Order: sequence, then C-alpha cells, then structure tokens
Amino acid sequence: MKILVINGPNLNLLGLREPDIYGKQDYKALVELVENVCREEGISVELFQSNHEGAIVDKIQSAYGVFDGIVINPAAYTHTSVAILDALKAVTLPAVEVHISDVSRRESFRQVSYAGMACIKTYMGHGFEGYAMAIRYLKAYLGKENQP
Ligand code: DQA
Repeated sequence: MKILVINGPNLNLLGLREPDIYGKQDYKALVELVENVCREEGISVELFQSNHEGAIVDKIQSAYGVFDGIVINPAAYTHTSVAILDALKAVTLPAVEVHISDVSRRESFRQVSYAGMACIKTYMGHGFEGYAMAIRYLKAYLGKENQP
C-alpha cells in the first residue's frame, strides 16, 4: 500500500504560524509523525508540501497509477480551489481530508471545502493526530476495497 500525503500553503511554517491555532510543532515534526505512523502500519508514504495551487494539481495528477490513496490538507486552497477538487475527482483515488484546526468553528469563509467534496472522509480539529487518523482510515478503506 502506497499513499501520498499532500500539504498546502503555509503549512511549511507550522510552529511559527499562529501557534495558538496550529500548535507549536513544526512541519518537520509533522513529517516525522506521518512517517512513523506509516512505518507502524506497513504503508509506503511520500510527503509533498507546496504553496502553489498548480503544483498541487500536478502532484495529484501524477499520483494516478502510482499511489493507492491520498491524504490531503489543502490549507487555504480548501476554501477556494475548484482545480484541486477537479484533480481529485479526475484521478479517482480515495482521498481523506485533514485540517489541523476545527474549521467548522472558524470564520464563515472557511465553511466551504471544495476538496472535501471529493474526499471519503474529513478529520478536523485533532491537531497533527488528524493525519494519523486519516492514514489509518485510508488503510482500512483500501483493505476493504481489495477484499475478494
Ligand atoms: C487548515 C485550515 C485552513 O482554513 C487554513 O487556511 C490553513 C490550515 C488547517 O489545517 O486547519 O492553512 O487547513
């Protein structure tokens, strides 16, 4: 099982960025958490972070036929990007959406998730742990999908 974990804009600044909302741990700590969970679960993982919408679209497109599933935190593009939604729909890979903060309790402009419309599940407000939850959910989902 091979998964792709995508993080959108400004998540490279975790730790520095609004620590009261996103916590004090940095992006490197998030990478370590994801890699540790995947190691424990026997999953092969690649992490990708970009501040550019088109680069994220390109990465999703290149996942077709290479990865079994995607975990994605599109960050601010969650609320604006039809292009990321369309890319997720195009590749038809099971995708799980993650948000570190509980976006449902934040500003009104964060109440729409375009990417979420193409995802089988969303975790929000669990901090970094949401990524672990998403990875485990995706593993269970892919396990069921591949049953005879
Ligand atoms: C976020 C929530 C988004 O609204 C915000 O733009 C982010 C991070 C989260 O992980 O909580 O950059 O996706």
